[in-house]
Amino acid sequence: MRRRRRVYKHLPCFDALHTVNPAPANPASPYGTLPPASVPASRRPISLPRLREMHLSGEKITMLTAYDATFAAVADAAGVETILVGDSLGMVCQGLSSTVGVTLETMRYHTESVVRGLRRVQGTAWVIGDLPFGSYHESREQALRSATVLMQAGAHMVKLEGGAWLAETVHFLTERAIPVCAHLGLTPQSVHQLGGYKVQGKSSSAAELLKSDALALQAAGAMLLVLEAIPSALGRETTELLTIPTIGIGAGPDCSGQVLVMHDMLGVFPGRKAKFVKDFMQGQTTIAAAICAYIRAVRDKSFPAPEHCF
Ligand code: KIV
Repeated sequence: MRRRRRVYKHLPCFDALHTVNPAPANPASPYGTLPPASVPASRRPISLPRLREMHLSGEKITMLTAYDATFAAVADAAGVETILVGDSLGMVCQGLSSTVGVTLETMRYHTESVVRGLRRVQGTAWVIGDLPFGSYHESREQALRSATVLMQAGAHMVKLEGGAWLAETVHFLTERAIPVCAHLGLTPQSVHQLGGYKVQGKSSSAAELLKSDALALQAAGAMLLVLEAIPSALGRETTELLTIPTIGIGAGPDCSGQVLVMHDMLGVFPGRKAKFVKDFMQGQTTIAAAICAYIRAVRDKSFPAPEHCF
């Protein structure tokens, strides 16, 4: 029997590329239970070569954080290319005052939840698992053990925070088939050393250091670089200097892509809004529509606007 194809017309950013073959209709189930996966997706899964291709062709890469199965599935259905299971979950989900208290076991739990949610909807997003504070600092062997936990939880790549001092670790992991995303600028795991969540790379020496760190990490094998809270000019210069894609959060419009914390993007946070955050729920009636609005704004380069930049 031929299966009917369903186009998710209700999601404004859906196009032909994002047409999926749905699983057979299931009886309604409680708590938003997702349908079991049984039919192959017609979308191509996002891969490192695809991200690189997007970077080279100037197509903006979209990334959102997700910490659970349902939000991951909704973000994937909206067409986001990459999902970061960020250690920001410590603040967003656990109520911690920083990401320093997040453990590897917690990251494993949330990575598994996200990956389970994606598998159930034949998701195609590239999943990045964040290595938490203290899980890669001791030695490259410790980093390998920690990264293995997240890769076996279903992540496609791990992220770690820090500069050239991590080059040996990045090399060790990538040699062992663990793709690595680096993270420079405001690195929240260093909040106590940085003296708060402050814009980084403002002086010319700090900017030069960031660029040389970025080159060292790329040479060591990093395949993606998150740049957080730096002047837009530095975001642009770093992106132009590298061959790997950069993903900005408060790093200006010229990075290869953008990332936001899901809850920030939906305007769900109790405190003061960071300058680089935009509430995409404004003017939308559903979370799916807000995610689509974010994706569209990144792709058409209307986000980040000057008021979101340093
Ligand atoms: O943990 C996280 O969510 C992050 C992003 C803010 C880049 O590192």
